[in-house]
Amino acid sequence: MSGYVEMGKVIRNVQIGSDVWLIDVYALKQAAEAKVGQFCNVRVTNNSAPLLRRPISYAGFDAEKGTITLLYRVVGAGTELMTHLVAGDTLDCLGPLGEPFQTTPNMLLVGGGVGIAPMLCIASHLQEGEAAQVILGFRNESETFWADLFKDTSVKVHITTDDGSVGTQGFPTAIMPALLQENDFTSVMTCGPTPMMKGVATVAQEHGVPCQVSLEERMGCGTGGCLGCSCDGANNKRYKVCTDGPVFPAEEVFF
Ligand SMILES: Cc1cc2nc3c(=O)[nH]c(=O)nc-3n(C[C@H](O)[C@H](O)[C@H](O)COP(=O)(O)OP(=O)(O)OC[C@H]3O[C@@H](n4cnc5c(N)ncnc54)[C@H](O)[C@@H]3O)c2cc1C
Ligand code: FES
Repeated sequence: MSGYVEMGKVIRNVQIGSDVWLIDVYALKQAAEAKVGQFCNVRVTNNSAPLLRRPISYAGFDAEKGTITLLYRVVGAGTELMTHLVAGDTLDCLGPLGEPFQTTPNMLLVGGGVGIAPMLCIASHLQEGEAAQVILGFRNESETFWADLFKDTSVKVHITTDDGSVGTQGFPTAIMPALLQENDFTSVMTCGPTPMMKGVATVAQEHGVPCQVSLEERMGCGTGGCLGCSCDGANNKRYKVCTDGPVFPAEEVFF
């Protein structure tokens, strides 16, 4: 999907964690047309630097209010510039881009870091007949604000932390086998650091449950024109993450 430019109006831009921000943008068309797992490519400034747009997943969209929600971690110049946006500012959003998640009746969602954003999007937009549980992987208790974001959804939240300060100590894969045995999940969806997603996909495969992964390659155009986001897939195939993905069946890119 090639998307279109929409000059959005910032409704709010608030810090919700030590380096994580939530921005709501009035972007009527994308709010109505975006699908879970898709992303928009935002121009973070009106100046020429940085030149390239920055891809950010939809964490939510509300067709009635006409708003899209993005959750972003400040990691460099582009995301730092985004923190300066205030209500009333204009944000140039190119979207909706990429292939969405193919949702199924009973999903196990697994998110780590800002990869939780697309999991929140699925959880907030369950269709009739769909259910989900989510595993959130954090470093420690300072990141539990991510769990609060799921309070208005119907999904059951499980937490793992690297240091055991909240939830179960370890990575999300530590609790996946028990959850997969106890529940009749029809798919696993995951987004986060690549080693985490590979582990999640492996456990899903061992339990015979189809897994979809959302890759976060660095991007240029976001629309298939520059090859900046190419990645190797299975069977010597090459994919453009921006247009073939970012969501792929795990076996197409990991095994
Ligand atoms: C499809 C997609 C969806 C994304 N969704 C989100 C999201 O919802 N929230 C969010 O916070 N971020 C998301 N990202 C990552 C986000 O695009 C980058 O963090 C952002 O572009 C960094 O821009 P910057 O100018 O702040 O940092 P830069 O100065 O460009 O880079 C700072 C550091 O971050 C690393 N980095 C930059 N981009 C990426 C990337 N794509 N993957 C891995 N490392 C990177 C660089 O190597 C460098 O070390 C997504 C990326 C993709 C491809
Ligand atoms: S970012 Fe340009 S082809 Fe994917």
